[in-house]
Amino acid sequence: MVRFHLGTKVMKKIIFCLLTLFLIVFFLPFPQQRRAATPDFELRSLKFPKDFLWGAGTAAHQVEGNTKNQITQWETQNAERLASEAAAKFAKIVPDWDAIKTEATDPQNYISGQAAGHYEHYAQDIALMREIGLNAYRFSIEWSRIEPEDDKFDGHEIEHYRSVILELKKQGIEPIITIWHRTQPEWVNDQGEWESEETIEDYVQFAELLAREYGNDVEYWITFNEPILHLVVGYILGVLPPEVKSLTRANRVIANMEEAHRRAYKAIHNIDSDSMVGSTQAMQVAEGSPNTITNAAIAKYLENYSNWKFLDATKAHTDFIGIQYYAPSNYRLKWGRGIADIENFHDLEAQIKSDMGWEVYPAGIYKLLTETHQRYGKPIIITENGFADRSDKFRADYIKNHLYETARAISNGAHVRGYVYWGLLDFLEWDKGFWPRFGLIEVDYNDNLKRTIRPSARVYKEIIRQSQ
Ligand code: BGC
Repeated sequence: MVRFHLGTKVMKKIIFCLLTLFLIVFFLPFPQQRRAATPDFELRSLKFPKDFLWGAGTAAHQVEGNTKNQITQWETQNAERLASEAAAKFAKIVPDWDAIKTEATDPQNYISGQAAGHYEHYAQDIALMREIGLNAYRFSIEWSRIEPEDDKFDGHEIEHYRSVILELKKQGIEPIITIWHRTQPEWVNDQGEWESEETIEDYVQFAELLAREYGNDVEYWITFNEPILHLVVGYILGVLPPEVKSLTRANRVIANMEEAHRRAYKAIHNIDSDSMVGSTQAMQVAEGSPNTITNAAIAKYLENYSNWKFLDATKAHTDFIGIQYYAPSNYRLKWGRGIADIENFHDLEAQIKSDMGWEVYPAGIYKLLTETHQRYGKPIIITENGFADRSDKFRADYIKNHLYETARAISNGAHVRGYVYWGLLDFLEWDKGFWPRFGLIEVDYNDNLKRTIRPSARVYKEIIRQSQ
């Protein structure tokens, strides 16, 4: 055996080099370009294709009211806890905690209940869409209404959604249907939700039923809304049902959702070969902050995983890509009790923030649109982009600037077919409850769910008008 004897001097040098390397990798920040601001511009300078889809969106559980799915059950069990944790979670990050404190600390805030009453008021809401000048509406069909028990279908609910679709068509508004937007019947959860292969079968059967019932009037179908986010909140962080924290189980879930997408794609096309079937992804524009080698690598890895994992696995079964983008992400490795933790945090110094503390970076959407175009070359729809702003001070600029960046991406070759603002109405923001107000239309929860079009929606209307 050969033995090496290292002298004390050499040992010291090695230790010094390792220590320096450790400091560089974990602590030395590299200079970072500031996130570029969108320049001033005239509304009429924005150019969009003639048949562009100008939309707004909702998800059944967030607006309909009286839904009975796995989240409805979870809300009632967790409302007290969510209310008692609100101050610790939000007081530091939201710009005006005093304005939301009463709502955020009230357990009722977390229970969907009648929500925005969209189930009953859909015709009024469609009339308001017309008033804003929209020609597209993205919404989800609540699986637990259509199939409340395994293999038992509710004809009355099938007719309800038919009426919504027909009313939209009558008003010249293109329906964009989401088949699964985070919710499913309780029996699906009882059988192990997306860990179970039975769920793939059941989901494809549900998708087939929708295509058979509504295919004549619907062209655009979204199989899954943000499947990766379901992994993150349901199987990694475990903050929403099924509240699991296991990477192995998360991997099984995403493989099953990918398979369900591919099979639903084929099933819908077998019924209607002209349909456009896609999924939507919660896309990230991420940076390390501070931008050390480690933080930058974490940001890049998570950005790639969120943006492309599902799409890479399903690209042969995708007619269009749904991009959802709200705000940039800042990642850092945090040393603490669990030794190391990855934190995605809000930049407290940002000048403009939403009521939830989210930053504004419109050029992020340009980056996503051009990268998605270069990677897949398929049509793209911005299926969500929005801003929680109860005072409506910043929403108009938010929309304008994101549309400026969208028009820029189009002029550089990206095939963007539409823009869906999220949401049409104020809604229940999942585990945050009702206090974040994203709506183009304000809902007064204390006055019979009265609807009022916000001034920012009028600016959106003007952009639509000028583009035609
Ligand atoms: C979800 C919406 C949600 C929005 C704002 C998206 O992740 O699809 O349901 O309201 O983000 O947080």
